[in-house]
Amino acid sequence: MKPKPPVTTIRAKKAVEKTAPRRRVQPKVVVEAVPEAPPLHIAMASPEIAPFAKTGGLGDVLGSLPQALERLGVKVTLIMPAYRSVLRGGFELEDTGIRLSIPVSTRREEAALLKSKTGSAIPVYFIKADRYFDREYPYSTPDGDYLDNAERFVLFSRAVLEVLKLDPPSILQAHDWQSALSVVFLKAQPHLYPELSPTKTVFTVHNLGFQGLFWHLDWHLLNLDWSLFTPSQLEFYSRINFLKGGLIFSDVITTVSPSYAEEIKTAEQGFGLHGIFRERTPNLVGILNGADYDVWNPDTDKFIARKFSPDKLAGKKSCKAELQRIFKMPENPDVPVIGMVSRLTPQKGFDLLEKAVEQLLSRDLQFVLLGTGDKQYQEFFSKVSEKFSDRTGVRIDFDEALSHKIIAGADMLLMPSRYEPSGLTQIYSLKYGTVPVVRATGGLKDTIEEFDSKTGKGNGFVFSPYEVQPLLDTVDRALAAFGDKKAWAVLMQNAMSANFSWDRSAQTYLELYKKLTAK
Ligand code: ADP
Ligand code: GLC
Repeated sequence: MKPKPPVTTIRAKKAVEKTAPRRRVQPKVVVEAVPEAPPLHIAMASPEIAPFAKTGGLGDVLGSLPQALERLGVKVTLIMPAYRSVLRGGFELEDTGIRLSIPVSTRREEAALLKSKTGSAIPVYFIKADRYFDREYPYSTPDGDYLDNAERFVLFSRAVLEVLKLDPPSILQAHDWQSALSVVFLKAQPHLYPELSPTKTVFTVHNLGFQGLFWHLDWHLLNLDWSLFTPSQLEFYSRINFLKGGLIFSDVITTVSPSYAEEIKTAEQGFGLHGIFRERTPNLVGILNGADYDVWNPDTDKFIARKFSPDKLAGKKSCKAELQRIFKMPENPDVPVIGMVSRLTPQKGFDLLEKAVEQLLSRDLQFVLLGTGDKQYQEFFSKVSEKFSDRTGVRIDFDEALSHKIIAGADMLLMPSRYEPSGLTQIYSLKYGTVPVVRATGGLKDTIEEFDSKTGKGNGFVFSPYEVQPLLDTVDRALAAFGDKKAWAVLMQNAMSANFSWDRSAQTYLELYKKLTAK
């Protein structure tokens, strides 16, 4: 992967030679090489890229934003760890033959560089260091985080920069805390990366709830000067905060919805970092995530019982019936099905739902839940499904196919999130005419608008206070609308006509990249 010589174009230029007067001058063609501006080259470092690894929306974003950028003529390079899911996932992997020697503390760790492809020609590089990444899960087992996560993602972030040296990009965009140190190392130790001195940096926050916090005794792993371990740099209440490093050292910070970009400046939602977001306001942008409609489209979805579209809705009925069968609930088209596909964490509102669920299930409805996460919620909701087995189905699993079946077959999707940087499932469900019932926060606020049966406007149902009664009242409004066939038909059409394709968001990223590289 040697850097290519600059592309040149041949431009014909008319030149007039000085000749004797009165003689007619013949124009002569002189060939002059004019360097053509190289395409914008964005290298993205991320701990997840679908389909190679996905634990949530981050994987989806990295699986589709690069392709949307590629369609806009941007050159994209992707870099992620070679987890077991990559090594054994049946992907076509090429060994580049390149071996990296990465400083971690006082040692050097060896890593191999594997390569695959996504989109039409987007290279994906994998850092293969089996001691760190050949494990069952990316970050944690059901019993908790891997104890060497600091070391694992120090190695990954250093390795990212070694890969960039091979073909220096215009911009490094690092995603979430696992990649944040690549920005820090580049900016704090430019002498180690002279090839990358023109490279600008973007740091993207997908979820402030995960910051990569480690005790100070891990500092030696980073090979950074102790002078950076201060509250104005990487220190956070005596611990090392990887994400904070990304926030401080990047040229631009992005997050995944305009509302979340505002919310993180408040003490309530800033997870202790709101001061930094406030200070960096001129360089903080919220760009809403998009949906990959090649994957999430009821007209082409390979996982669902029968395909459907806004003008042919019969398939949706079959999808609902299949869902009721899967969860062994009565196959009744008139009973509304409320679905959830989610990580089972307090972020997603499961503490609220825990309090509300019995009252919720006293209504005439069916409830299905697919998710993995906190043991406490796995156990609680499994018990709920035993107790209310005639109207509840709970599956504790990570199951791509079932997630599509729920989003297609349910009538409503519930997302009572405490906070939600963007949220993708509500965007997906709109396309399937599955009406979102959400809490007004972050990206949910930016995508879902309360339905008004008088004007026929709106695409879902929204509540604000994080409390049981507003949640139940909002479900009741949704149930009332479901009972009114005409209103529901309008609502479904509104939902299905929503367009949150990546193309629009990718255009906004492109404008940002152009501004940044013009500086
Ligand atoms: P987050 O990234 O916070 O988990 P998002 O709504 O952005 O939330 O994205 C979640 C993604 O993960 C969606 O693609 C959703 O379908 C998927 N997902 C979540 N839980 C599961 C599960 N148990 N099985 C399959 N897919 C899941
Ligand atoms: C995070 C957020 C989610 C967002 C996703 C992708 O995990 O919780 O709201 O959609 O990242 O950006």
